[in-house]
Amino acid sequence: MSEHLTILGIETSCDETAASVVRSGNGGAGDIASNVVFSQIEDHAPFGGVVPEIAARAHLDKIGPVIEQALAEANTSFEECDAIAVTSGPGLAGGLIVGTMTARAIAAVHGKPLIAVNHLEGHALTARLTDGVAFPYLLLLVSGGHTQILLVRGVGDYERWATTIDDALGEAFDKTAKLLGLPYPGGPQVERAARDGDPKAHAFPRPLKGRDTLDMSFSGLKTAVRKAAIEDGADTNDICASFQAAVADVLEDRIARAFNRFEDEYGHAGAVVVAGGVAANTMLRTQLQAVANRDGWQWIAPPMALCTDNAAMIAWAGLERLRAGLVEKDDDTIRPRWPLDPDAAERQPKSYGSGRKGAKA
Ligand code: KG4
Ligand code: ZN
Repeated sequence: MSEHLTILGIETSCDETAASVVRSGNGGAGDIASNVVFSQIEDHAPFGGVVPEIAARAHLDKIGPVIEQALAEANTSFEECDAIAVTSGPGLAGGLIVGTMTARAIAAVHGKPLIAVNHLEGHALTARLTDGVAFPYLLLLVSGGHTQILLVRGVGDYERWATTIDDALGEAFDKTAKLLGLPYPGGPQVERAARDGDPKAHAFPRPLKGRDTLDMSFSGLKTAVRKAAIEDGADTNDICASFQAAVADVLEDRIARAFNRFEDEYGHAGAVVVAGGVAANTMLRTQLQAVANRDGWQWIAPPMALCTDNAAMIAWAGLERLRAGLVEKDDDTIRPRWPLDPDAAERQPKSYGSGRKGAKA
């Protein structure tokens, strides 16, 4: 395998049709030659969420032009690519079929290997594409579909330390917005409204905070928001600010516990990477970065366009897999449910202390 690799990545697992060409760079990190993302947000907005049938149809319409544009912007061709990487899960089956079938056809016609990539692995390895960060490190993934803390030990080697036991965090933002009559997607709207609100106006619950688990839960918070929203005279900005303050406290508590666990296992502090659409939230980012700084951790927040869904992360994960010899030959199975760490659910969590020096309990 040549030292310099060029990979075409394709992503269609949710509501973004994306293609990207990534090359192995010098000194660990990669070079993004193109990164084309066609967002379907406008198609789904009238329905207040992603509609699978609409998503599949839109992927089918856009996948061809998006791939062509990615090749053109990178000034390359299928022939010059070393492999085709495609998201084969987790995600919506219709979209995954469009992506994998397209990738399979390209790979077959041009005689290239097909690399099946787990979407979550794409998020997990992005910090190596952008910053060349060394293993092991922690990933906080907070999006519309996922809320996880992962230990990233190596390519294909992940341990899920935490997940949400109910709603994903982005979903909680979206549902809060919906309850308050704000448009979809709700995260940015809630953040905007929160700027003019009082975070202490409502004493919303901090679900599972202080408990001896790294897991998260947001449905109780949603119920509290619903109650507040029907109170007479309740101010939307105050509700948003109080909701966001509760979320920030919960994330701060969980991440500090994850730091403890990592330090127990490795004997030193490390790096923490954030990813997912919710990582766009400035207030959450600022508060979490402060916790990382306080505890002597390196804080890595890839540029927003690489935190949200994109195909550069899929191409890069494919490149890392190819380099590590971890490619199953021409695997085009779709896996709508595909945890990165299959035994996550079975492991019993250990005790991770009751918060950190200076941390609120
Ligand atoms: O990663 P992403 O673009 O797509 C997937 O979920 O796959 O994440 C979208 C989620 C939505 O729930 C959206 O409301 C949320 O990220 N989001 C935000 C913000 N911007 C986007 N949540 C809070 N604050 C924001 N500024
Ligand atoms: Zn994602």
